[in-house]
Amino acid sequence: MDKFVIRGGNPLLGTVRVSGAKNSALPCMAAAILTAEEVVLENIPQVQDIETERKLLVSMGAEVELGYGRAQHRTTVSCAVLSDPVAKYEIVKTMRASSLVLGPLIARTGVARVAMPGGCAIGGRPIDLHIKGLEKMGATISYEHGYIEAKAERLKGTEILFDKITVTGTEDLLMAAVLAEGETVFENCACEPEVVDLATMLIGMGAKIEGAGTPTIRVQGVDKLHGVRHRINPDRIEAGTFLVAGAITGGDLQLTNCNPEHLGAVIHKLQECGARIDILGKDAIRVRSEGNLKAADVSTQEYPGFPTDMQAQYMALATQAEGASLVVENIFENRFMHVSELARMGANIKVEGRTATITGKSPLSAAAVMCSDLRASASLVLAALVADGESILDRVYHMDRGYEHIEEKLRGVGAQIRRMGKVFG
Ligand code: EPZ
Repeated sequence: MDKFVIRGGNPLLGTVRVSGAKNSALPCMAAAILTAEEVVLENIPQVQDIETERKLLVSMGAEVELGYGRAQHRTTVSCAVLSDPVAKYEIVKTMRASSLVLGPLIARTGVARVAMPGGCAIGGRPIDLHIKGLEKMGATISYEHGYIEAKAERLKGTEILFDKITVTGTEDLLMAAVLAEGETVFENCACEPEVVDLATMLIGMGAKIEGAGTPTIRVQGVDKLHGVRHRINPDRIEAGTFLVAGAITGGDLQLTNCNPEHLGAVIHKLQECGARIDILGKDAIRVRSEGNLKAADVSTQEYPGFPTDMQAQYMALATQAEGASLVVENIFENRFMHVSELARMGANIKVEGRTATITGKSPLSAAAVMCSDLRASASLVLAALVADGESILDRVYHMDRGYEHIEEKLRGVGAQIRRMGKVFG
């Protein structure tokens, strides 16, 4: 089980290149199911969840090449033959975003068997809204042995209003609708950049979609989609994590290959805390701080509000800010797992339901801590970067799911971090 060893105290100085967005790449790879032709996706991050998605597609009969380094972080997916349209439990249990194959599978083959994802550390995370939408489009759904079985001759366009805003629910049903008969109008859609990225790819494949990125998306179904070459968005959450890293360590960081337009809420909040942030162009941002940060409240919201995926990272920053910061987690019911670990490093945090009150500035001391989920891991790395002494972070496999070469990137800007327990050679 890999661990990180991090010695705190160094301000981060220099330039970090942001990788492609995992949460764009996952739906875009699933969208390759919608055509028999080859799909090429660029700027794919080399993270565990992408490898899991590759395994999932191959297990269904797809051919997937995944190349990094000189291969420009590119994947080529060919779903000419989908011999076994089943998302097996062994794979789904390791990545609940596997449910993103449900919509494209039923749209392309008329049948889909997907293991129920089950919950995860941050919440129950049901997919009832995905199912409800598919039923509204004419799919017959049955459940047996922990699998969802969906069947439809051909899905039919209809009107769907999401009871709750769901990112992968919007993506899953968008992929179902592009090959449906007639028009589908979605209301109360997620507006995240990852939805727009997927829609851009689908339009490149010949889909007819209007309104992606707004609460109302209109789709005219077509009979067939063709292959496409598409470049994945930069990862706005990785970028946000590094902005916090520059601010919390009192450093001076430049981020390249990012998209400042996707980071509005995070940039404004960090500026409210006293960090200096300059937009250096359409794909670069600079963050500076002398370390004198002020408390500021955060309430997580769907995009363009403050992202839930930045809540844990922000909480680490709030421990170093003068005053009390209120952090309200509105999206997931159990996304404070990092609190007890931060408290073990000396943070002063009180949790009441979905609200955490962080009182700073608390000097943090290094400790052995446990990562519980992807973004909680990032929070503990950030805290360890400013803690006094050497921290040991266990179960960093959580971090490897969504952050590409994180220790190399941090070391490259002056962090004292190394990975332990990796079998080299
Ligand atoms: C996506 O998850 C992201 N994952 C998550 O990122 C992110 O935290 C989340 O959106 C919110 O932004 C991917 O894109 C792969 P939701 P998703 O459906 O789509 C409830 C990370 O750190 N809900 O928008 O699963 C749900 O329980 C991950 O990279 C239903 O009730 O999230 C939650 O309370 C973590 N029924 C709320 O909606 C449904 O059918 C929002 O969930 C679907 C969702």
